[in-house]
Amino acid sequence: MSTARFAPSAGLHGALTPPPDKSISHRAALLAGMASEPVCVRNYLDAADTNSTLAAVAAVGALVEDRADGEKLIRGTGLRNAHEPASTIDVGNAGTLMRLMPGWLAAQEGRTFTLDGDDSIRRRPVDRIAAPLRAMGAELEATDGRLPPFRIAGRRLHAIDYDLPVASAQVKSCVLLAGLAADGVTSVTEPEASRDHTERMLTAAGADVRRTGTTVSVHNLDELVLEEIVVPADPSSAAFAIAAAVLVPKSRIVVRDCGVNWTRVGFLRILQRMGGIVLGDLEEPPGPDETRFPDREPVCDLDVAHGPLTGTTVTAEEVPLAIDELPLVALLGAFAEGETVVTGAHELRVKESDRIATVVDGLSAMGADIEATDDGFVVRGTGGIAGGEIDSHGDHRLAMLGAVAGLASRDGVTVHGMDAAAVSYPEFTEDLATLVT
Ligand code: S3P
Repeated sequence: MSTARFAPSAGLHGALTPPPDKSISHRAALLAGMASEPVCVRNYLDAADTNSTLAAVAAVGALVEDRADGEKLIRGTGLRNAHEPASTIDVGNAGTLMRLMPGWLAAQEGRTFTLDGDDSIRRRPVDRIAAPLRAMGAELEATDGRLPPFRIAGRRLHAIDYDLPVASAQVKSCVLLAGLAADGVTSVTEPEASRDHTERMLTAAGADVRRTGTTVSVHNLDELVLEEIVVPADPSSAAFAIAAAVLVPKSRIVVRDCGVNWTRVGFLRILQRMGGIVLGDLEEPPGPDETRFPDREPVCDLDVAHGPLTGTTVTAEEVPLAIDELPLVALLGAFAEGETVVTGAHELRVKESDRIATVVDGLSAMGADIEATDDGFVVRGTGGIAGGEIDSHGDHRLAMLGAVAGLASRDGVTVHGMDAAAVSYPEFTEDLATLVT
């Protein structure tokens, strides 16, 4: 476990191109693995989580070729021809891989697959995908009924209309992927909209995917065909440098070519509402008549500067659009005037760590006035934090939170387990160092 010290910064300056998007990279590898023709993926994220996905698609028969400039050429098996692997598919630390891939595997008639991962993944529930996949006709047996390792027996699937109890792009995507090979039209309804990368990529691959409100439906089809996928820079990774630039006086940075899909910029909207200076051409949500999904991901440059913040309340509707950035909202709240409240975010308890507990404990120990609630937290702004130490608990976003807290703190922060950042952002410490003065 590596330890790193982040001293108070006198300002962040310069330009940053964040790493390729993790969510979109996972989907690119999976859809390319399911496709009938070779797919060229440009700007694929080279990190532990997304490398697990490349290994997983290779384990079921796809061929993955490394080309120049980080490009991958993936020759898939086709939608219904995944091979039964000789051994367990190792998802490592990747929850997205663990929840999306079974949607594809469930439709492989007569073949069985076992998925397992690291200690953290063994604490993350899969009952949320087991329920819809069983309703579609697949068999799924999990440890203690709800945890990895788990076994899927592929069957001929039939379409369902599934109501998700909690908004989740992972579960929605799993059901949509299963729906591609099921008899009929499959639909998923969420209580609130979540990220729509799967829907966009499937649209680009020729699938008929539609939305009405928060219901998404997909028709089955024979094959997916998409020549090229270009992965944009990850707004969730960018959020750490953005928060640092907003919090550290005298900062001004530019974030280049950042993904600004409206389902991913909830954090930037919250930050803007708090008074944060973040300028850019963020995508707007679609109108009620826009039933088709775009077949691309929008990107733009973001201009970010330090400025004062005021507290805000984050509601359940906003949570899925900012789910991975909510730890940063807690940190911003400690610097803002007044109270910052996050509600409707019970899902944070089943991320790479229980992020309500780890964020509240971590920031309290650094001097923040923050309390946990059942489904979020309340932070009272006190003008900043003293600093101290934080343990990442093996959670990449907690490690990066500690680093940003250090730059903005009065005394600096030591992060234990900084290496956890590598699952999504291997160059994080180096990138931050190029901005810090
Ligand atoms: C993700 C969806 C979110 C998010 C995760 C990535 C995805 O999880 O927290 O980091 O790529 O679909 P849930 O869908 O479970 O909320």
